Amino acid sequence: MENDLFEAAREAMSKAHAPYSKFPVGAAIRAEDGKIYSGANIENLSFPEGWCAETTAISHMVMAGQRKILEVAVIAEKLALCPPCGGCRQRLAEFSGASTRIFLCDETGVKKTLALSDLLPHSFETEVIG
Ligand code: THU
Repeated sequence: MENDLFEAAREAMSKAHAPYSKFPVGAAIRAEDGKIYSGANIENLSFPEGWCAETTAISHMVMAGQRKILEVAVIAEKLALCPPCGGCRQRLAEFSGASTRIFLCDETGVKKTLALSDLLPHSFETEVIG
């Protein structure tokens, strides 16, 4: 079932712009509409200005009018399993629910499944902003 998400993440990784780290990453999100939104990391000569694969995928999802993440797959060819970085955990949490699953993949498929709450326990939440 999650194989299509894995394939989309792997395909996205091939589009990474990572000439500085040489560490391509791909991510794919299944949104509430059932569609897949994918992304790769996009780096910049001014190093802090680059961003992660998950962030690109979230951008695609939001610009398609979607606001709810059901599942996410992440792959990095140079790392057996690539858990989303801290900043991306918070960005994913913005659009995730209690049941959102994160699939960590290698080049053959999903190797580990986690809930976002496993990755980001005690996350920042408040009612007093705005
Ligand atoms: N990277 C991602 O795209 N996602 C992650 O969750 C971890 C890190 C990227 C950022 C940078 O382009 C490269 O991997 C090395 O850190």
